[in-house]
Amino acid sequence: MTKTMNIAALAFAAGIITLPFSAAAQTAPKTIDPAIVDAYVKATFGKAPPEWQERIVPDETLKTCNAFHNNVPSKEADAITKRELAKVVYPADGKFLGDWKEGRKVANNGRGGQFSDPPDTVAGGNCYACHQLEKSEVSFGTLGPSLTNYGKDRKYAPDEIKNAFTKIYDSQAVFACSNMPRFGANKVLSEKQIQDLVALLFDPESPVNK
Ligand code: HEC
Repeated sequence: MTKTMNIAALAFAAGIITLPFSAAAQTAPKTIDPAIVDAYVKATFGKAPPEWQERIVPDETLKTCNAFHNNVPSKEADAITKRELAKVVYPADGKFLGDWKEGRKVANNGRGGQFSDPPDTVAGGNCYACHQLEKSEVSFGTLGPSLTNYGKDRKYAPDEIKNAFTKIYDSQAVFACSNMPRFGANKVLSEKQIQDLVALLFDPESPVNK
């Protein structure tokens, strides 16, 4: 048995590690030893190339979320949303809406973010993993709320359009310790991809609003 498996088996047997994104993660046992979790994560990333290693080091925000098992008190939550909001880079020309047809491709694309990816891989947002968007799509996750009629329900209001850009760019600028990835801040998606996703949510012609 490898060292990796030993740590993993030990951690699972002790009930220390919960699966990511599971409901249980929100009510994790109070007795987690962070050193065991860190050792486990480090061991599973052992084969990743050196430039990936820094990705397993939690930033200030993740450290706080981990320490409170995502249930952050309001003082810490305010500090997180403030810190994350400062990371959001808004489009220089002030345009938040791109092309919904391109946004549809980004929402459906679950590729990217793996060290086995070919170098020219364009990463997607994998939005359907957690959200319903188009009504005609039957396969979607439900960790996040349904986004059908998103723009229509918000009367296509300009401040709501800006909020959606912020949310996709950095989910934690809006909601501390969100389970939603910080797509722009972590450089998973480009500014254009985010604008296209905002159009998917807010263009009256988008199937999300039909
Ligand atoms: C791993 C799961 C996950 C993925 C992937 C994900 N989201 Fe989310 N999203 C959530 C959760 C959970 C919430 C609700 C909590 C929150 O607001 O952070 C949410 C909230 C949102 C909201 C705010 C909803 C509201 O009530 O106003 C928007 C908009 C959104 N997501 C868009 C997207 C888009 C677009 C993508 C793809 C680029 C995406 N999400 C990918 C989990 C996810």
